[in-house]
Amino acid sequence: METQHPDVEKILFSETEIQSMVKRIGKQISEDYADKDLVLIAVLRGAVVFMGDLMRSIECPLAIDFMAVSSYGDGTKSSGVVRIVKDLDMDIKDRDVLIVEDILDTGLTLKYLMKNLLHRHPASLEVATFLWKDVEGRETAIEPKYVCTHCPDEFVIGYGLDYAERYRNLPYVGILKPEVYS
Ligand code: IMP
Ligand code: MG
Repeated sequence: METQHPDVEKILFSETEIQSMVKRIGKQISEDYADKDLVLIAVLRGAVVFMGDLMRSIECPLAIDFMAVSSYGDGTKSSGVVRIVKDLDMDIKDRDVLIVEDILDTGLTLKYLMKNLLHRHPASLEVATFLWKDVEGRETAIEPKYVCTHCPDEFVIGYGLDYAERYRNLPYVGILKPEVYS
């Protein structure tokens, strides 16, 4: 049993569950990209924890790079406004790019990012997301190729995900108590 942080209402995915989900995706990516020129691009800062685990579960050669976009501020609702805060250091032309993201909610952030990256002419461009938030009656703006797991339409934290820059270091994913942000 993991110790539950007092601000966490419920643990959704334990550390052990997360590790096996990430290994499963890593194995799939290793097969799919065996003869490709793979570049993993993590979206800072939420995806760093997933990136660290995922890259170690992929067996084929790869390079990594990072981008930072700002779309959420410190709140819990998507503003729809996306801004590149840190761009890639690497040239991705003719390379097989896989964007590594912590959570797909509306998908607006990634839609913008993918459009931007496509202008640089990668050989391929796909998305691996740790979580995909299910919202009744809503379509996400993009389709990820790899998904570790779906999650309910709640504000979740841990395993890289934050609320106001806190809780990223929790090894599990949990639902934040509403009184913490309301
Ligand atoms: P989207 O553009 O609506 O898909 O927003 C995606 C981004 O919003 C993610 O990369 C996260 O940084 C943030 N986000 C969305 N939902 C949550 C959540 O439940 N907890 C923490 N961050 C979230
Ligand atoms: Mg993010």
